[in-house]
Amino acid sequence: MSSGILKFACASAALLFSSEAQALDWNKVTGKDVVLFYPAQMSWEMLLTQSDHSGAGKFREGKNCAGCHEGEEKASGKLLVNDKSTEPTPIAGKPGFVMANVRTAHDGERIYVRVEVDPGQQPDVGMDKDFASKLAVMIDDGKVPEATRAGCWATCHDNLTRMPSGGAGETQKYLSRSRVSLSRKGGAEIKPAADLDKIRAEGGYLEYWQARLNPGKAAVAVDGTILERRAENAAPAVSVEAAENGTKWTVIFSRKMTAGGLHKDFAAGKTYTIGISLHAGHAAQRFHYVSLEKTLSIDSGKADFVAARH
Ligand code: HEC
Repeated sequence: MSSGILKFACASAALLFSSEAQALDWNKVTGKDVVLFYPAQMSWEMLLTQSDHSGAGKFREGKNCAGCHEGEEKASGKLLVNDKSTEPTPIAGKPGFVMANVRTAHDGERIYVRVEVDPGQQPDVGMDKDFASKLAVMIDDGKVPEATRAGCWATCHDNLTRMPSGGAGETQKYLSRSRVSLSRKGGAEIKPAADLDKIRAEGGYLEYWQARLNPGKAAVAVDGTILERRAENAAPAVSVEAAENGTKWTVIFSRKMTAGGLHKDFAAGKTYTIGISLHAGHAAQRFHYVSLEKTLSIDSGKADFVAARH
């Protein structure tokens, strides 16, 4: 009798444990390939200038980047990684693109974004001394229309560090709305703090998650926001699990769907924009790979990624 009770108790404890440890059966979630390509120095301001980019006019009229470039990413990456006009300091032997496979899901409490990515053999450029690779997801919930239309490029200005008008300066990613005005060289003057606080309170910023990766070591999880600069949160709401197999990484980001603070709420019925980036081979700043703008919805919808409940 008593051993029967004991068995029952053990069995339910084991069940509980396994359902926590394997919250999600990823085999049941369909993945989608995403091309991460090398963008060189193609800034927001350059892309909006007709004489520099023939898509500028149509983009201004309402056609999104993916509307013209989806399916062309591999070719663009191969071109840009060695193109002296947009990449003044090419990295010898750098591949022009990297493939990622992305799956999304939620369990009612947390949202999960799982990325499999294989940077392959990458030249070690030693720019980031601390981490070999950094995988990031940038997120908007519709509050930043230019991110809906252009994904990561909403933050990629001409005067950022190592961009044409930024040189060796310290300017980090920002949104146009944080600047007093913008020219072909980006925006130099930042709006007063009170204006920025108001924009932040209205949700007019982007959120990002980052997994900092070194072979053989636990991943470091970071999250933060982008408005007038990239601002890292003191304690991340996002968690990261990462595993490596040869040169391939499988990275699972997860966080509470409602995390409070400067985090976007994830809810059914809304569409989000995500952009994915990868720094590989100890690269930093613009020497990364990026996706075009991708959409994400919860439970249902026509998005690139539909995070279903599991
Ligand atoms: C109306 C179609 C159209 C739209 C919209 C458009 N582009 Fe382009 N883009 C082009 C064409 C055509 C070229 C090649 C000729 C050139 O560079 O002007 C090009 C070139 C590029 C290149 C250089 C690599 C290559 O393959 O030539 C990049 C990078 C790029 N576009 C990114 C973007 C981004 C990011 C956006 C959104 C902000 C965007 N484009 C919007 C048509 C478009």
